[in-house]
Amino acid sequence: MENLIETVNLTKRYNRSVALDDVSIHVRQGEIYGLIGKNGAGKSTLFKTMMGLAPKTSGEIKLFGETSSSGLDHARQRMGFMMGASFFPYLSASENLEYFRRLKGISDKNEVHRVLKLVEMDSVKKPFKSFSLGMKQRVSIANALMGYPDVIVLDEPINGLDPQGIADFRRIVQKLNKENKITFLISSHILGELELMATRFGFIHDGKLIEELNRETVRKKTEEKVLVKTDDPKKAAYLLEQQFDGVEYIINGDKELVVSKMTDQSDEIAKLMVTNDLKLYKLITQEISIQDYYLNLIAKGGTQRA
Ligand SMILES: Nc1ncnc2c1ncn2[C@@H]1O[C@H](COP(=O)(O)OP(=O)(O)OP(=O)(O)O)[C@@H](O)[C@H]1O
Ligand SMILES: [Mg+2]
Repeated sequence: MENLIETVNLTKRYNRSVALDDVSIHVRQGEIYGLIGKNGAGKSTLFKTMMGLAPKTSGEIKLFGETSSSGLDHARQRMGFMMGASFFPYLSASENLEYFRRLKGISDKNEVHRVLKLVEMDSVKKPFKSFSLGMKQRVSIANALMGYPDVIVLDEPINGLDPQGIADFRRIVQKLNKENKITFLISSHILGELELMATRFGFIHDGKLIEELNRETVRKKTEEKVLVKTDDPKKAAYLLEQQFDGVEYIINGDKELVVSKMTDQSDEIAKLMVTNDLKLYKLITQEISIQDYYLNLIAKGGTQRA
């Protein structure tokens, strides 16, 4: 699959402090890419450098395969970017977007209506200041949608939304991704906010991109497991295969067997071991939440840096 956004060892320093440290990110066509990192991790700096709003210190930015400065300018026209644009409080959504339409030099007068419809805000006539935060965010997305971008970059769009607002946001992003084939790059400091939406995740910490994982891998890494410590894990695995169809496991060293899923059958696993004269030293079920996985990753990233 083609990378629409890519950086190669991108580094950004503010005086002596390093905001981005050798970041190589890969956002492929069709993805909803969630960039996860806590406050000060470097998310906004990455977006600003990518979008040409802040100069890089070193490394390369590649957008739609372009790396030259004129090529990048051209590529950026195919990208919608939202980071806290300010709107006029007393104007309606369409009046606000009308202003931005002219500013962006988009001649099609239907464009404002088209984008407001996409975010389900076309029938709202009241002034911007009376909108809920969720409605305001949707107007911001509509703004980013003007001019038919192929990619939309959203910096912390979910920050402060209530659960209903998050659900609406998710639905709209997924619809635009599926029906309008728009690739999304969305940052958040809360993994749970993007967990149900992103198809791939990038974890950024202290200016370093620690890991990029697709949704399936994250699911595998965090799914429920039964950990069995026994004197003969190979025999244990053989017995499990005999008893349970399609059982998935890995053998760690000469004492440990990790069985995927099956957490609700841990007693049957135990029984099988014991009735076949295997020594059962320990049997525990593990359920790693994606949040724990993330925290663990950050902790490791922190020590690697030191
Ligand atoms: N204009 C600037 N001048 C100096 N340092 C800056 C500037 N902008 C950002 N930084 C520093 O760069 C680092 C990364 O900041 P950045 O705003 O990119 O993080 P972030 O992940 O977007 O955080 P947040 O979740 O708070 O928005 C921080 O240490 C920050 O203090
Ligand atoms: Mg930020």
